[in-house]
Amino acid sequence: MESRRDHRASSRLLVGAVALLCLCAAASGQLSCNFYKASCPNLDSTVQARVSAAMKAEARMGASLLRLHFHDCFVNGCDGSILLDGPDSEKLALPNLNSVRGYEVIDAIKADLEQACPGVVSCADVVAYAAKYGVLLSGGPDYDVRLGRKDGPVANQSGANSNLPSPFNSITVIAQKFKDVGLNTKDVVVLSGAHTIGRSRCVLFRSRLANFSATDSVDPTMDSALASSLQQLCSGGGDGNQTADLDAGSADAFDNHYYKNLLANKGLLSSDQGLFSSPDGVNATRALVQAYSANSQRFLYDFGVSMVRMGNIAPLNASAGQIRTKCSAVN
Ligand code: HEM
Repeated sequence: MESRRDHRASSRLLVGAVALLCLCAAASGQLSCNFYKASCPNLDSTVQARVSAAMKAEARMGASLLRLHFHDCFVNGCDGSILLDGPDSEKLALPNLNSVRGYEVIDAIKADLEQACPGVVSCADVVAYAAKYGVLLSGGPDYDVRLGRKDGPVANQSGANSNLPSPFNSITVIAQKFKDVGLNTKDVVVLSGAHTIGRSRCVLFRSRLANFSATDSVDPTMDSALASSLQQLCSGGGDGNQTADLDAGSADAFDNHYYKNLLANKGLLSSDQGLFSSPDGVNATRALVQAYSANSQRFLYDFGVSMVRMGNIAPLNASAGQIRTKCSAVN
């Protein structure tokens, strides 16, 4: 538990962080902090009210909205393509089907905005803004989200199947998938810290719990008490869709507990624990895991920076994109 003094120090640091991020706006080109200031002045309060209501109904929704933004940005850039329906819908891709959540919250925000300022705010920006509030209302950093993206004209289901990292990928493969969209290995470690909130289904980690290898029944990099409680959860005759907390012991609070868990072999996904324990993670990522486990302010600050970097993946400009009226279909 952090002391009050730590919290005050953290707030001061975050004020500095916000100022720094805002200065960066000019440098990042197309996107800016105040893009809708004149054209849709109620944007902030609208998004905040909707996300807050959704999280009051279910705290996990903050996590789900954060992940929705990530899965949008890694496929065709942050262009709202994940929201499109149709035969090539990204919603039907393996990493998203029965997995990505929160579409209805995005639709509700967009409906409010179409009343208040019709045809102005892109769906891609709604997703980015909802993620910001998902983080903030979970206790995370108040980073300045950049706006001004246009919505893409097409979905890319095969891109969703190939570009998004899998929990079964090695750290090397995951780092390459980040590199492919302009993000670095530090971003991998920082943004994996998103797993400080939210849940995962058993199908995505149960291979660690039984018949793991020729020599080990259970993944030796998983704490044995955690392994037995997960075995109970996942072997209860369910269909594999039972869920466990990604950050055991601190599931709904956006903090650095996720990294502390990795030091204690309590990462849920193989790709989480691998950042600390896997042979390819040891060189590239282990030291950062240790640093973030020891310094929550540093994690919260760096998370805001990396979210801005992720939100800046291939934004569409006016000629290549549009402002969809309805997020699930092109105009
Ligand atoms: C580094 C590679 C990553 C891998 C392999 C990965 C994998 C996963 C998996 C397998 C789940 C559970 C899905 C399910 O149960 O159906 C999950 C959940 C989640 N992921 Fe990741 N993820 C990664 C990076 C990220 C990033 C970059 C973010 C955001 C910046 C993120 C945010 C989340 C959140 C918040 C959840 C919980 C969602 C909820 O409870 O609805 N992940 N991730």
